[in-house]
This record gives sequence, structure tokens and C-alpha cells, in this order.
Amino acid sequence: MTKTPRNFFKPLAIGAPVPYRELPVKVERMIHFFPPQNEKMRAKVPEMAAKVDVLLGNLEDAIPADAKEAARAGFIEVARAHDFGATGLWTRINCLNSPWVLDDITQIVAAVGDKLDVMMLPKVEGPWDIHYLDQLLAQLEARHGVKKPILIHAILETAEGVKNVEAIAAASPRMHGMSLGPADLAASRGMKTTRVGGGHPFYGVLEDARADSGARTLFQQDPWHYTVAKMVDACVSNGIKAFYGPFGDFSDAAACEAQFRNAFLLGCVGAWSLHPSQIDIAKRVFSPDVNEVAFAKKILDAMPDGSGAVMIDGKMQDDATWKQAKVIVDLARQVAAKDPELAALYGF
Ligand code: GLV
Ligand code: MG
Repeated sequence: MTKTPRNFFKPLAIGAPVPYRELPVKVERMIHFFPPQNEKMRAKVPEMAAKVDVLLGNLEDAIPADAKEAARAGFIEVARAHDFGATGLWTRINCLNSPWVLDDITQIVAAVGDKLDVMMLPKVEGPWDIHYLDQLLAQLEARHGVKKPILIHAILETAEGVKNVEAIAAASPRMHGMSLGPADLAASRGMKTTRVGGGHPFYGVLEDARADSGARTLFQQDPWHYTVAKMVDACVSNGIKAFYGPFGDFSDAAACEAQFRNAFLLGCVGAWSLHPSQIDIAKRVFSPDVNEVAFAKKILDAMPDGSGAVMIDGKMQDDATWKQAKVIVDLARQVAAKDPELAALYGF
């Protein structure tokens, strides 16, 4: 059962802000994770916030059980202390069946609800998880006079979640988007890998046998292709954003870049950075390529009303390729508005 269209967009508590009809337009190429219980990291927050599109205080996995309260308190402290300007401020709360999550939600909304853009919810299994958080956030927003709705970002990281991905994406107007979580998802599905994202040397297609019986090459395949594509369709058809999540091997920048780029090409708008070196990788990958932007601009210029057929550099262009070009140019404009260096390169 789904709600009627009118009811879908009503606030879930009297006095809560009205849900957005469309997501606020924001460039979110990387969601940079930091551990808020760590004093040294807290001191670096202004420096980090200046470099990234989104800064996220992590309260869930990777935060030791005995540091959960300190992480929450540390997040509240930094959220209060700084003005984040155009940089998004997010937190990843603990999962819904954990002993910490109720305090995560209630204390954070009470203390810094007006500063928080997005709450990331891990291990989402179905729309019921979103409905629970949606209602609770509305009640807390009303109680604490929060003026703009706090959005929900789901992590897609269980087999059941992937099965229900469309219903999760459609669960509430509070949905911001989704990230693929390859570590938990691999565990949940029983995938036989200890890696966090990327390829696997055993997952591939073996070249045909050779007449000379010579050694055959195994061409590695992308084990995340199906899930990323499924997530993108679920998100984009519901007007929300898809992200690739973490890449665990900090020493392999090239593999991280390849994973991010596959996600970008398939429709994702950003990825997580867990290490400072991954910030620039994400910035590079999720900002459209300068040559691609130049070519896309040529297409738009050659077809001012977006219809008909023309040849550009020997390639056929029509109404559909005009739309493809518009995807690239629209994104380039958003990135350019934020990044003067790229604006110059794009020629805006
Ligand atoms: C992220 O949370 C993951 O499990 O990969
Ligand atoms: Mg996880």
C-alpha cells in the first residue's frame, strides 16, 4: 500500500517543516568521513570542510563500542562550533537495532537539528526502516523547532535491502539518496571476498582455449556492476541521488579511481572518501571531463531547440544525444558554480 499523492507530501508531525518536493541542488562529489570522538580530527574540521563537498561525522562501524557516546558528543560539539557554509553536514548514525541509535537521533536533532543536512542510515532492509526514521525525525523537528527538513540517506548494504531497493527509494519525500556499501553487502550476501569495493582477481571471464594450448587470460569483471546499476535506476526514477560508498585499499589510488569512475559513468553523483587522498580522486572523477564538456557544448550550440539531426566531428547527433549533452553541461555548470578553477577550464 502506498499513500495518496497529497498525503505523501504532508509533514508527519504537526509543526514539522514541509517535506521538499525536489532535492535542493547541490554538488556532492565526495562524502568525507571523520571520526568525531578523535580530538585531533575535530581540530581539523574547518580545514576539511573547506576541501570537501560533504563532511560526515561517523558514529557507526569503525567507531569502537566504548567510543560511541564520545563520537556523538564530538559531532554535536563540532556542528555547534562551526559555520559550514556551502559544505554539507551529515552524520552516519548507528543502525536501527543498535543500543545507541535512539540517543544518536534524539540528541543530535535536539542539539544541532538546524545545522544537519542529512542523516545517513545504515543497513536499511526495506521501506519500514525509512518510515520509522521519517516519523521520528518529524516529531523531533516539531519539538525542537527545526526549520528545514533533515534528509535521509540510506546505505544499500544487505541482500534484503537490494531486493527492496525500489521501495526504499520511494519510501518518503525525505529521501536524499543511497550509497552502495560493498563491505556489509558482501558479508550479507555471502560473497567470498575480504575486500572493500573494487574487483577481485578470481572474478572474471576466461578467454577461449587457444589452438596452441597457450596460457589463457582471465579478464577481470566488476562484481558491483549489477548492484550499482540497480541502485541508479531505483534512485533516479524516484528523483533521488545514487552514490558509490567506500573503497578500502588506500594504497591503490588507481583502483579506487577506476571504481569511482565506473559508478560515475553509470549514473552515480559521488562516492565516500575515507582517507584524505581519496578527496581529490573523487573531485577528479565526479566533475565532468573537460573535453567531454567542450564536445557536449558543441552539441547544444548546434541544436538550439534540442531537435533535429546534425553531424558533429563525424558523429550523429539528435534529440537524444542533445539530452545526453545536457546532462554533462548541467553538471559542469553546477560544479563550475562551486569551483572557479574548473569554471575556467570549462569556459563558463
Ligand atoms: C559501508 O558501510 C560498507 O559496509 O561497505
Ligand atoms: Mg557498512
